[in-house]
Amino acid sequence: PAKIQSKMELARKMEDQDKLYRYNGVLYPVIMSPEENLRALEDLDARPDDIMLVAYPKCGFNWMVAVLRKIIAAGTGQQAESRMPPLIEFYGPEMIEPLAQASSPRFLGTHMHPDNIPVSFSVNKTKMLVIFRNPKDTVVSFYHFSNKNPVLPSAESWDSFYSDFMSGEVPWGSYFDHALAWEKRMDDPNVMIVTYEELKQDLSGGVRRVSEFFCFSLCDDTIQMIAEESTFRAMKESSKDSHGQMGNVFFRKGEVGDWKNHLSQAQSEQMDAAFEKHLSGTKLGAQLKY
Ligand code: A3P
Repeated sequence: PAKIQSKMELARKMEDQDKLYRYNGVLYPVIMSPEENLRALEDLDARPDDIMLVAYPKCGFNWMVAVLRKIIAAGTGQQAESRMPPLIEFYGPEMIEPLAQASSPRFLGTHMHPDNIPVSFSVNKTKMLVIFRNPKDTVVSFYHFSNKNPVLPSAESWDSFYSDFMSGEVPWGSYFDHALAWEKRMDDPNVMIVTYEELKQDLSGGVRRVSEFFCFSLCDDTIQMIAEESTFRAMKESSKDSHGQMGNVFFRKGEVGDWKNHLSQAQSEQMDAAFEKHLSGTKLGAQLKY
């Protein structure tokens, strides 16, 4: 947390135009995912028993981090707090060795574009849980986040952020590129996709499926308890402890359909058309139906 705090301070002093850079064609934030960190990941050896969480920004990553920490704690008997923080692109070269020494199961995560995720994850058949969210709520959440997170440039306006999102010119790249890359892996038994919307509808069912995917057999009471502790309200209440000053930034509204308060009719139709063009008739498209 102290390291993250000092990076935030650094980010506040930077000009917006210096905050992003490109890696393999995708925009990343200089402060949290500098090139030396991404390069260092080439030396990270993924393990078959790593627990890997992947998400395009604002699709519910922090929600699943909390759920997975509790599942791992219940499944292994270890304290949830003893796990390493999960975003591998934040780590930097100095973390490669400690990671190599860390005991299994390691809990890792990334927002990286699927093509930039180190190949050792697929080579070593690491199980990857991917959380997705409908693109309309994702762009709204991303817009608010950009304006509150000093690591990212602020949006000039809602309209300009929306059009950058549609053209993929936002940090971590195009939502649809991420979606299409995962669509190709829908039948991979080591990949599981969950959606924000299905978790909102049935959190305990989601907790059960996720724990089964990672081969933890938890009893009904434990699953129920994890679900109750992981509602938006519960997580927002404890967000000062879990996320410090960034608590209110990461736990904003937590609803399905907030896009109706932001997207114009034309923007909504444009998103529907993009969704149709890229994802209609696909398995992921069917799962993401909104
Ligand atoms: P909103 O901005 O729509 O509120 P990420 O963690 O990937 O950055 O995603 C953040 C989004 O997930 C935010 O969406 C946040 O409020 C929402 N979120 C976080 N925890 C949640 C929970 N327990 N239940 C529902 N939504 C949650």
